[in-house]
Amino acid sequence: MRTTLQTPRLILRPFVPADAPEAHAWFADPEVMRFTPTGPDRDLDQTVRRLARFIDHQGAHGFSRWILLNRATGQPLGDAGLMHLPEYGWIDFGYRLAHHAWGRGLATEAASAWRRLAFDEFHLDSLTAFAHPGNSASLRILARLGFLEQRRAPVLGMDSIIFLLRNPNPRSI
Ligand SMILES: CC(C)(COP(=O)(O)OP(=O)(O)OC[C@H]1O[C@@H](n2cnc3c(N)ncnc32)[C@H](O)[C@@H]1OP(=O)(O)O)[C@@H](O)C(=O)NCCC(=O)NCCS
Repeated sequence: MRTTLQTPRLILRPFVPADAPEAHAWFADPEVMRFTPTGPDRDLDQTVRRLARFIDHQGAHGFSRWILLNRATGQPLGDAGLMHLPEYGWIDFGYRLAHHAWGRGLATEAASAWRRLAFDEFHLDSLTAFAHPGNSASLRILARLGFLEQRRAPVLGMDSIIFLLRNPNPRSI
C-alpha cells in the first residue's frame, strides 16, 4: 500500500501525531478555515483530535487526508486527500494550504497527484468535492481537474456547490 507521494515541489505522506503542533498553525487560522464547515480549531487539542481521525481513517481505508511537505526543506505546508463522508455516502476530495503557501500552484499540484492516486492506484469509481460558492480558488482547481457541478446544497451545514469526478478508466470486474 502506497504511503508517500512526490510531486515536483511536494512530498505527501500520512499524518503522524507529532505533526500536530505545526499543523495547528493552519488548522487554527480563521482565513484558511473560512470555508471549512468546522471553522478554525480553537486549541491544539482540537488539532490533535482532528489528526487522530485522519490517522484512524488511514488505518481503516489506506488513504486519508495527508500532510503536504515542501520537498526541498521538509516544511509542512498543508493537507490534502480523501475522506469517507458516511453521512453523505461519498469519498470527499479536499486540499488546504497554510496561508503563506497560497498562490504558487501548490494546491493544484497536490490535488492533481491525489486525483491520479485515487483513480490509478486506489481504483475508486468517483470522487466528490464540495466548495463554498465564494471559494473562487477552490472552484478553479476543481474545474481544472475536470470535476463537474452536480447541485447546490448545504454540506455539513455550509452552503456548497457539490462536484463529481468519475474515474475515466474504471476497473472492470
Ligand atoms: C483553495 C486553496 C487550496 C488554493 O491554493 P493555492 O495553492 O493558492 O491554489 P493554486 O495556486 O493552485 O491556484 C488555483 C487556481 O485558483 C486561482 N486563484 C488562486 N487564488 C485565487 C483567488 N483568491 N481568487 C480567485 N482565484 C484564485 C489561481 O489563479 C488558479 O487558477 P488557474 O488554475 O486558472 O491558474 C487555498 O486558497 C486554501 O488553502 N484555502 C483554504 C482552504 C480551502 O478553502 N480549501 C478548499 C476547500 S473546498
